[in-house]
Amino acid sequence: MTDSNPLVRIEGVTKKFGDTVALDNLTLDIARGEFVTFLGPSGCGKSTTLRILGGFERPTAGRVILDDVDVTLQPPEKRHVNMVFQDYALFPHMTVRQNISFGLELKGMSKADIRLRQDEIMSFLELDGYGDRYPGQLSGGQRQRVALARALAPDPALLLLDEPLAALDAKLRGQVQQELKAIQRRTHKTFFFVTHDQEEALTMSDRIVVMNHGRVEQDGTPEELYFHPATRFVAEFIGETNLLTCEMRGQDGEAIVMDWFGQTLKGQSQGHRPRVGDTITASVRLEKLGFHAARPDHKNAVKGTVVGKTFLGSRMSVDLMIEEAQGARLRAFVDADVGQSVGSEPVWIGWDSDSMAVLRE
Ligand SMILES: Nc1ncnc2c1ncn2[C@@H]1O[C@H](COP(=O)(O)OP(=O)(O)OP(=O)(O)O)[C@@H](O)[C@H]1O
Ligand SMILES: [Mg+2]
Repeated sequence: MTDSNPLVRIEGVTKKFGDTVALDNLTLDIARGEFVTFLGPSGCGKSTTLRILGGFERPTAGRVILDDVDVTLQPPEKRHVNMVFQDYALFPHMTVRQNISFGLELKGMSKADIRLRQDEIMSFLELDGYGDRYPGQLSGGQRQRVALARALAPDPALLLLDEPLAALDAKLRGQVQQELKAIQRRTHKTFFFVTHDQEEALTMSDRIVVMNHGRVEQDGTPEELYFHPATRFVAEFIGETNLLTCEMRGQDGEAIVMDWFGQTLKGQSQGHRPRVGDTITASVRLEKLGFHAARPDHKNAVKGTVVGKTFLGSRMSVDLMIEEAQGARLRAFVDADVGQSVGSEPVWIGWDSDSMAVLRE
């Protein structure tokens, strides 16, 4: 994403711990008011990036620019940045009010102003009436809101959230996800959110940066990443998908033409241009495969035999064997009534070239 005046600019940041390269020449801009999620497996460098932005860690190389100021060597308290940690890190011996006022006292705010700000933020996060309780007397979701209140109270330009929902159970987690997103919209704050949960990333973010081994794999909207993954890693990490091993045949306009065990298929790539004869992998999401009684008009059409079905409520997952592609398998997600209607007769399966992403390894 290009922005002439981003709030955050991470410029060629490398971080080494001994022989471990936690971040490998990372360059990234974050626009004002954006909800950006850093997504990736354990150890890919997510927390290290946040710690560098927060000033708790210094990069081995590269610079961090915040609001046009080079803050690379600035200590945390000098930066207009706040962080919410995975375990909330509330002070257990302090009440909700005291927890919230912590950052305000550090800023040197007067007692009267602190009181006003506490009231304002507690009302905003629906914590009225909880001011005198201790963290131990709150539910997980309430504690989460206090942690947010404490981080938001000093009005930081940038809020860093390192897996803040990891400790919550599934139901509460969904609820807090919605709340967090709503808070971000209402405050127009810039949120940099870390998770290794792809579903969480898809539901919450304006933009997702997928990380792997300290590098950016892909950077885009949730829809772009889901439907147009650039790499095999992204296709496999986000959602379930069909991966087809093909041979590159050529191009037809923008489309890439490939051979899949004797079937000619067409797909799109994100700038990746393989050579004719190369083995390539293409990804098509399960819900992009449609069933047809006769050969459909889609760019891609193959005939399959149903070899398995799983009922999932409103939808059905259907496993298909493609005899004309040397018995290769595909899996489709279809409406339950469509799934129930297929079975003994072979079925035509169709999908557009736009739904088929040719991946970089
Ligand atoms: N203080 C440290 N000393 C040595 N190695 C470290 C240190 N901090 C992080 N690392 C290493 O740097 C790499 C990136 O760590 P980081 O904590 O950023 O990963 P992460 O993406 O946040 O993972 P997780 O999802 O498990 O929290 C890992 O290989 C980790 O072992
Ligand atoms: Mg981490």
